[in-house]
Amino acid sequence: MAAVAVAFALCVAVAGCWYYLTPEYSRVGYTPLQPVSYSHKVHAGELGIDCRYCHFGVEQSPYANIPDGALCMNCHNQVLSDDTRIVALKERIESGDPIEWTRVHRNPDYVFFNHAVHVNRGVGCVECHGKVSQMDSVMHAKSLSMGSCLACHRNPERSLRPLDRVYDPEWQPAGPEEQAVVGQTLVRELGIRTSIYCSTCHR
Ligand code: HEC
Ligand code: HEC
Ligand code: HEC
Ligand code: HEC
Ligand code: HEC
Repeated sequence: MAAVAVAFALCVAVAGCWYYLTPEYSRVGYTPLQPVSYSHKVHAGELGIDCRYCHFGVEQSPYANIPDGALCMNCHNQVLSDDTRIVALKERIESGDPIEWTRVHRNPDYVFFNHAVHVNRGVGCVECHGKVSQMDSVMHAKSLSMGSCLACHRNPERSLRPLDRVYDPEWQPAGPEEQAVVGQTLVRELGIRTSIYCSTCHR
């Protein structure tokens, strides 16, 4: 009996660890269908609209806001205004029905995170979200596990980019030497001191 119980407990433990290490747990690949047709590939990619036009909170606040439908109409009152997708969007806005976008990225409640701190210190959107500008529907492209946060907090200079390239999904260092120069210069000039103390992220 005891042997069976121990074997069973072991199986459960292995299954638990297994699940913990899988993409399902880290949500990588998660691509929910959104209630309104909107493509980052068209807007941020082909048209090259800056991320901050819509996510205007990202530089000043912990949160990158999701825009409401009225902002779409800044352009779509003229552009494609007869398109069925835009007509549906307009009707929705006029009825006062807020668009309920499905969240893609979400930290557990016990994690403290702040967008502004990162994007104002040379951490690009791509670093954590992947190439959103090539996605029709936003996919959870990268793991945002504790390990991924710590990997950068231990060696931030390996992932920093020039401040004017934070919103540019195409920027890449020419090679490891350029990355080292860019990273070390930023760390020095901005006095970057990333922390791996538990209380930085769990307050
Ligand atoms: C024209 C407006 C617009 C622009 C420009 C734009 N976005 Fe978005 N973004 C949205 C909307 C609307 C949503 C919510 C719907 C969705 O997830 O597709 C969103 C969602 C997202 C999400 C997923 C949020 C979540 O739920 O986790 C990420 C990440 C994101 N945008 C990153 C970017 C990046 C990076 C750029 C610049 C390269 C950018 N966006 C440019 C409008 C925009
Ligand atoms: C800065 C101007 C601007 C904003 C803001 C904007 N769009 Fe667009 N949108 C465009 C342009 C330009 C096109 C491309 C028109 C074309 O292909 O002829 C487009 C294309 C589209 C299309 C058709 C794309 C396709 O796949 O063919 C849809 C649907 C759309 N937008 C929805 C939205 C939604 C929803 C929002 C708000 C979250 C939004 N747009 C915000 C300018 C904008
Ligand atoms: C250091 C990693 C990191 C960087 C850099 C980053 N994000 Fe995020 N983003 C996250 C995490 C983590 C979440 C989930 C936050 C939560 O659940 O509280 C998130 C959530 C979001 C959301 C959903 C709304 C919200 O604030 O929770 C949007 C939109 C978004 N990010 C857009 C952007 C854009 C645009 C950029 C670049 C200007 C960017 N992010 C840069 C990690 C990052
Ligand atoms: C690619 C690099 C990178 C990644 C990935 C990253 N960070 Fe950071 N983080 C930084 C840098 C750079 C700073 C700025 C340190 C400074 O201000 O000196 C920072 C600062 C912080 C701070 C301090 C904010 C404050 O109030 O002072 C918190 C909290 C934080 N990060 C949480 C997270 C979490 C949670 C994740 C994972 C979801 C994460 N970070 C992923 C680079 C990163
Ligand atoms: C740079 C930010 C950061 C720091 C520093 C940090 N954590 Fe975390 N921690 C996270 C994030 C993000 C998650 C959530 C991961 C996820 O999505 O499941 C997490 C999750 C956890 C969990 C839940 C189990 C898990 O791994 O998902 C525990 C327990 C934990 N952290 C303990 C700690 C302890 C102890 C320390 C100090 C040694 C610490 N953390 C430092 C970001 C951080």
